[in-house]
Amino acid sequence: TVPTVETEVLIVGSGPAGASAALALSTYGVPNVMVTRYSRLADTPRAHITNQRTMEVLRDLGVEEDVIAQATPQHLMGNTVFCTALAGEELGRLRSWGNEPLVQAAHELASPTRMCDMPQHLMEPVLVNAAIARGSQLRFGTEYLSHEQDADGVTATVRDRLRGDTYTIRAKYLIGADGGRSKVAEDAGLPMGGQMGVAGSINIVFDADLTKYVAHRPATLYWVLAPGATVGGIGAGLVRCVRTWNEWLIVWGYDVNAGPPDLTEEYALSVVRKLIGDDEIPVTIKSSSAWTVNEMYAETYSNGRVFCAGDACHRHPPSNGLGSNTSLQDSYNLAWKLKLVLDGTASPSLLDTYSDERAPVGKQVVTRANQSIGETAPVFEALGGLAPQTPEQLWRNIAARKDTTEEAEGQRARLREAIAFKAYEFNAHGVELNQRYASAAIVPDGTPDPGFARDPELHFQPSTRPGARLPHAWITSGTRNLSTLDLGGNGRFTLITGIGGEPWTEAARILGKEFGLEITTAVIGPGQEYEDPYGDWARLREIGDSGALLVRPDNHVAFRRQGATGDVTAALGDALRQTLGRG
Ligand code: FDA
Repeated sequence: TVPTVETEVLIVGSGPAGASAALALSTYGVPNVMVTRYSRLADTPRAHITNQRTMEVLRDLGVEEDVIAQATPQHLMGNTVFCTALAGEELGRLRSWGNEPLVQAAHELASPTRMCDMPQHLMEPVLVNAAIARGSQLRFGTEYLSHEQDADGVTATVRDRLRGDTYTIRAKYLIGADGGRSKVAEDAGLPMGGQMGVAGSINIVFDADLTKYVAHRPATLYWVLAPGATVGGIGAGLVRCVRTWNEWLIVWGYDVNAGPPDLTEEYALSVVRKLIGDDEIPVTIKSSSAWTVNEMYAETYSNGRVFCAGDACHRHPPSNGLGSNTSLQDSYNLAWKLKLVLDGTASPSLLDTYSDERAPVGKQVVTRANQSIGETAPVFEALGGLAPQTPEQLWRNIAARKDTTEEAEGQRARLREAIAFKAYEFNAHGVELNQRYASAAIVPDGTPDPGFARDPELHFQPSTRPGARLPHAWITSGTRNLSTLDLGGNGRFTLITGIGGEPWTEAARILGKEFGLEITTAVIGPGQEYEDPYGDWARLREIGDSGALLVRPDNHVAFRRQGATGDVTAALGDALRQTLGRG
């Protein structure tokens, strides 16, 4: 018999959720084994939009530069184009993904990082290689079959697909990062809401030099309104850039009730030809696969010692590009909690806050992504409606927008508005950054929540309210420029204060020893280790100079105080006890 393998954390899956869990755990020094079913990582581009919050996570995990080196930069992502074919008529454009000037300014103000386009088949090796370099054990060709848990741990049975035999892996905790058909989530009995298979989609990956149709309007996404484009799928035909401007992925719908068409090369080519609209362009089909649009989320992300992350918990269409972003952010939320529970610093109850904090985010993401599909309909409606129409009718309706009639003027206005409204999919900065947590690991400060001053889906609003992500401001340390976000992370708690906040730093020193917890302290002010030359931090921090923020390892604020009055050590001690579940 094959002996049992032992580890602290077993991770099933090497996609964005699993690979980032392995990377974070290894960065924090937690032994882990990652098993994955196939003998390779993702072999198709899949998820690609990488938002600022994810880039911040990657920055903290030390791989931001590796991603930037391979990703398509933000300025080449941002002209969502609506057209009848790449070589056909253009119906309008939307400046997207932080490229609209006002949104661009908001992006610059919000984060030290930039959004980019990093296809999943390039992202996974970056995460996995860094995880392995830091100690993760990866087992390819190893399929999770089942698990049992008891008071002390989880025993999972896996199958070595090369040898064909099964063996067990014993771990203190199990992370199910096994994607949209998660067996771990099913075996753990996680309650799911929503439904699978609401529409059918096909991905076709191909090589073609499309420079002449795209370089003057660089974009990640070209939406094609062609006959048949509203059947199934994600709202319209989609030509997505994988590598500028030679590698592409087309998303095309099919009627989910009729089942996917036979994905022959001939079929794939016919779809590619329709969406490009120029039969002279040489095309090489690389792969075709069918998938379904899902609208499903787990109500709870854990059961005992089993935690699920990524698509295992939230299954939704690619609209808003939230799939791998949310998956990575799940794991980032979970990893530091596992570390502190495993090393005895925190009570196991800290792990309950994972689900409390991430399940609402997952539900919001699933809802938003599906809503975005519906919001493409007005673009079609402006061109004569979604009712079945012959190709000739559609082309006539599209041509009618050029008429001099009053009706055509109205149509032009409706089309402009419908395209502009797609900002909720392509420029939703708030959806990407406004996550605020409420759980036992967050200590409310008793102040009333002022809410969001502007639409919270479109606009990011920084805040230091407990639960919010620490706001970014550029500060300095000697000649070094750094972000306030760079003060935190690294698996450590951080206490941020200013001049007059010495009682807080002293309290952090004493309590750190008492709790066996590394608490980094940062004093920001003139003549201190960190300075705020622009005054940006003072404008954002929402506390006085002598006030304090206790920031968790994931850079979310756990506790804040306006000043240093009263028994500061007792207040910080209570906050740490609550956050760590040490009651
Ligand atoms: P992911 O599905 O990436 O990873 C699951 C991992 O678990 C894989 O490594 C798998 O091999 C492994 N696994 C599964 N079962 C296992 C078992 N029993 N034992 C061991 N290992 C097991 N998103 C987007 O934004 N734009 C897009 O165009 C696309 N396109 C797309 C195409 C296809 C074909 C798929 C499958 C998905 C997409 N997506 C997408 C979605 C996107 O890929 C998805 O949101 C993220 O990959 C989610 O990351 P996870 O790590 O959670 O799961």
